Amino acid sequence: MGVIPTHAHDPGSGEAYGPIPRKEDARFVRGKGTYVDDISLPGMLYGAVLRSPLAHARIVSVDATAARAHPKVQAVFTGEDLARRGLAWMPTLSGDMQAVLATDKVRFQGQEIAFVVATDRYAARDALELISVDYEPLTPLIDARTALDPGAPVVRDDLPDQSGNRIFDWAAGDKAAADAAFAAADVVVGCDMIYPRSHPAPLETCGIVADMDTVTGKLTLWSTSQAPHAHRTMYAMITGVPEHMIRIVSPDLGGGFGAKVPLYPGYLCAIVGSMVTGRPVKWIEDRSENLMSTAFARDYHMHGEIAATADGKILALRARVLADHGAFNATAQPAKFPAGFFHIFTGSYDVQAAFCEVTGVFTNKAPGGVAYSCSFRVSEAVYLVERLTDMLARELAIDPAELRMRNLLRPEQFPYTCATGWQYDSGDYPRALQLALTMAGYDELRREQAERRARGEYMGIGLSFFTEGVGAGPRGQMDILGLAMADGADLRVHPTGKAVLGISVQTQGQGHETTFAQIVAHELGISPDDVEVVHGDTDRTPFGLGTYGSRSTPVSGAAAIVAARKVRERARLVAAAMFEVAPDDLEWLDGKWRVRGDPDEAFGIADIALAAHSSLELPAGVEGHLDASAVYNPPNLTFPFGAYICVTDVDPGTGEVKVRRFIAVDDCGVRINPMIVEGQVHRGLADGIGIALMQAIVFDELGNCLGGSFMDYLLPTSMECPSPELGETVTPSPHHPIGAKGIGESATVGSPAAVVNSVVDALAPFGVTHADMPLTPANVWRAIQGRPIRPDLALS
Ligand code: CDP
Repeated sequence: MGVIPTHAHDPGSGEAYGPIPRKEDARFVRGKGTYVDDISLPGMLYGAVLRSPLAHARIVSVDATAARAHPKVQAVFTGEDLARRGLAWMPTLSGDMQAVLATDKVRFQGQEIAFVVATDRYAARDALELISVDYEPLTPLIDARTALDPGAPVVRDDLPDQSGNRIFDWAAGDKAAADAAFAAADVVVGCDMIYPRSHPAPLETCGIVADMDTVTGKLTLWSTSQAPHAHRTMYAMITGVPEHMIRIVSPDLGGGFGAKVPLYPGYLCAIVGSMVTGRPVKWIEDRSENLMSTAFARDYHMHGEIAATADGKILALRARVLADHGAFNATAQPAKFPAGFFHIFTGSYDVQAAFCEVTGVFTNKAPGGVAYSCSFRVSEAVYLVERLTDMLARELAIDPAELRMRNLLRPEQFPYTCATGWQYDSGDYPRALQLALTMAGYDELRREQAERRARGEYMGIGLSFFTEGVGAGPRGQMDILGLAMADGADLRVHPTGKAVLGISVQTQGQGHETTFAQIVAHELGISPDDVEVVHGDTDRTPFGLGTYGSRSTPVSGAAAIVAARKVRERARLVAAAMFEVAPDDLEWLDGKWRVRGDPDEAFGIADIALAAHSSLELPAGVEGHLDASAVYNPPNLTFPFGAYICVTDVDPGTGEVKVRRFIAVDDCGVRINPMIVEGQVHRGLADGIGIALMQAIVFDELGNCLGGSFMDYLLPTSMECPSPELGETVTPSPHHPIGAKGIGESATVGSPAAVVNSVVDALAPFGVTHADMPLTPANVWRAIQGRPIRPDLALS
């Protein structure tokens, strides 16, 4: 296989950033990727999960006799079988306990009841039908808004201290200050709004191949994992297999978007299957299982209020949220933040007072609450504040761009501590908004809109301005199940100066093999082609918390930089010995150590690495080679931001929305690979258009999931997504070693509000001030009619 050419890179220049093609694409475009389902081991067996058709029912009995008699079945186990091994329940990432296989009750449609292991996938599926389950149906609790009513069915009667369905009450901000600001305000606007339950829906579903070596006792897992190290620790704690005897390989992943952060019952069942049979067991979810039972995202019922002066100065914000967590509290977010980072809901504005309260409840729905391409509930926060800002603009008859410009944080206010305590690191918000307005031709668009309205055409222009907080830790404030959020990097330099970087984060399509090679290449003055990036294998990489919440570049990227700088400093000592000068006489210039005042005398990393492995007498402080490692504990989150403008055309007869243009100006600090950054933004905009216009996992009153296939849960295609017009500003993060901020999720976070603001703007002549996502043709049409969304769906 040929080597994919990179851009004309001068290895000595010390400048490796830039839009070089992705190294990993060499295998992807040739169909040579290796996904979990590509793993095939000798003697491998196949697992299948029996799932509950009911949302809430007591299990009277489970009879697997006929399934066990199937000639191709090697093992069947039920909740009772797992209970005998102490494995019927497992911890969630939020410290709750989730049933691996149900023993007492089923608590959501699609919940796992039994696991069959057979010699082929089809026999495993067939045998599921031979298992008979006797259910005693119970009233399901589907509408989160009734979860706290007296007499509501109690979902979690397994928890000794749980009497109702309340999981937590959590608040942030200063209530008294916010109330006082509201009381003094000239104008107050408020609204109920829903951020519907959505699903990350990666192209590749979840899966695992579990291989317990009965001779060595080593358990090897090829698994769809965004956090292999954290998963290994959890498996060790759950199964009792010592951690050093567990190896997790997370090979190529077909997307994750947060959905591959949690542990799922199917993973543990495959492990037990391998332990029981002594053979490798593969379990691969199908699409419906993925949509119905793996982790959902969002599901926030919000009431927001904004207070302002008559001339549009935002004074305060308040929010009350009911968070539907489903049947088990399995959200994936730092332990001290039960509502994630939702309290960043003051957004990008200079707001002096804010208060929010969030109540989490159980319902008979699948568990989850993962950060779907967002840093822990920032999406919900941005949506709330950006919808409220548009409503305020309408109320005050101020143009929404002008209102934002009046309230955006000014560059001189950074570092800025918002009313709920986040310290934003850096930003030039007005510049980003101004660039977006210029790119859009905003004034011209407004003129066109007026002309069209006069002709009875409904065109919308929607803005959103977002600030994200990405790159969790710091470790002292953020952990998941007691594992602090820091990440390691190991950098080895071969005698010829080629490098291997082991990282604890795991790419799911973001191009880490390229950008992390660029990071090291930039620091060491070598070519990105000369750096191999190893990830996704716990035996070959250092410990770290994994990839989600756009934390790879801010945390693991920083670890790689620190390790590379250690290598560079060690190389200085060796170079000094080579030159026979003092280390202080050297300077790092254009990717080489040079003698000050004599720039022709220079050694690059390749020369120095070879010398370090030679018989050269090594200086004090150098043991023999240049290798180095680092663990990075971020001092703060990084705060990327952006200004988005969405132009839509709405057909009032059918309710159809066409996204005509999408202008996105993003600032993620210094860009390592601008092409990859733009690719991330393209994907995120498609996410946002999908969420805003067509996606929601909804349930009927019995708890039947109505979004269990791609016929119901729609994915946006190139037909629905215009080619976006991208702009950038660069405001480096002051605390990141190269000034980079995360970008992976910005567009998913920022875009839904722009789309909804655009549609609501188009519908203004009908008096529409708000309509809940997803703005399907039917929902748009209902909004035009002044009617609420269907009340029989638990969505409204
Ligand atoms: O954690 P995740 O990889 O999902 O998000 P990220 O750290 O924002 O990075 C997404 C991709 O964009 C990675 O390949 C990054 O290295 C790259 N990136 C970049 O080139 N420049 C930035 N300032 C931020 C990210």
